[in-house]
Amino acid sequence: MDDQKIAVVGAGTMGRGIAQVAAQAGFQVVLYDSVEGAAAKGLEVIQKSFQKLVDKGELEKELAQSAGEKISVANDLDGVADSFFVVEAIIEERGPKKALFQKLDQLCGSSAVLASNTSSIPITELASVTRHPENVIGMHFMNPVPLMPGVEIIKGLKTSEKTYQKTRQLAEQLSKRPVYSSDKAGFVINRILMPLINEAIHVVEEGTSTVEDVDNGAKYCLNHPLGPLALSDVIGNDTTHHILSVIEDELGDRFKPASLLTQMVEAGLLGNKTGAGFYLWVDNKPQEVNKQLLKYLKQ
Ligand SMILES: NC(=O)c1ccc[n+]([C@@H]2O[C@H](COP(=O)([O-])OP(=O)(O)OC[C@H]3O[C@@H](n4cnc5c(N)ncnc54)[C@H](O)[C@@H]3O)[C@@H](O)[C@H]2O)c1
Repeated sequence: MDDQKIAVVGAGTMGRGIAQVAAQAGFQVVLYDSVEGAAAKGLEVIQKSFQKLVDKGELEKELAQSAGEKISVANDLDGVADSFFVVEAIIEERGPKKALFQKLDQLCGSSAVLASNTSSIPITELASVTRHPENVIGMHFMNPVPLMPGVEIIKGLKTSEKTYQKTRQLAEQLSKRPVYSSDKAGFVINRILMPLINEAIHVVEEGTSTVEDVDNGAKYCLNHPLGPLALSDVIGNDTTHHILSVIEDELGDRFKPASLLTQMVEAGLLGNKTGAGFYLWVDNKPQEVNKQLLKYLKQ
């Protein structure tokens, strides 16, 4: 087992960011995604992100280059086997995550930490399919990972103190401030964030206010850096929907996704990652409110 090698499984919005910060902190990183070409594309996005940091004078060219060289792409899951720490960042659904944890358990060393970046799925449940539940933990990074200073760490019922301490230590090595949560669906961050986003969607759906005014209200009356609708676009409206559904399973109707959110997911309006959600997005920036959606909402 290589105690300098971190594996990241899932090369989407979050996996890419996690791989980037791990490489910047000096670790060797292996990135795997089950969709062919996705990990290689993820690596390209990371290299562009390094270049942007260099252009802005926030990262030295040599450091960006050496961090870039630390990331490799694995063509199959076997490539993660010798890592001392694995971070899973795949789709927010119980079935695929449990199937993956079962495979990781077979492939990885008996002392490797298997961490999930899940936003809401209980860690004890993911750990239950492994032979070493003491090595399984939640390490919930925030989006965008390179910019957000906090990380939520979740102990499952059988997570050992050793695994917890190793994870806290890694968080600090990645320059992240750990926040502890016990193992309840949604943990702390999404228990408090998701009702805000869901309620904001209800407000525009029922016509109490507009997309723009809801977000401006959060920004200018509550001093939030980003309105909840723009934030859902950044998270991915599909991911927001998955998170709400998982918490709803455990905590009931108050987390039931708004029907407008369900429809937007069905219509492929996932936000930044598809270019359109509550807003139209170019280069990770909202350009304007999505007029097609406004028309549908008769706003
Ligand atoms: N988006 C956010 O703001 C955010 C924030 C914190 C945590 N999270 C959590 O992070 C995880 C990933 O979310 P995301 O936003 O990066 O999703 P995403 O849709 O951007 O990316 C998911 C990636 O996982 C890959 N994938 C799916 N099944 C796989 C499998 N079995 N093996 C390997 N790869 C697989 C997909 O091809 C895709 O590239 C979820 O658990 C989510 O709840 C998301």
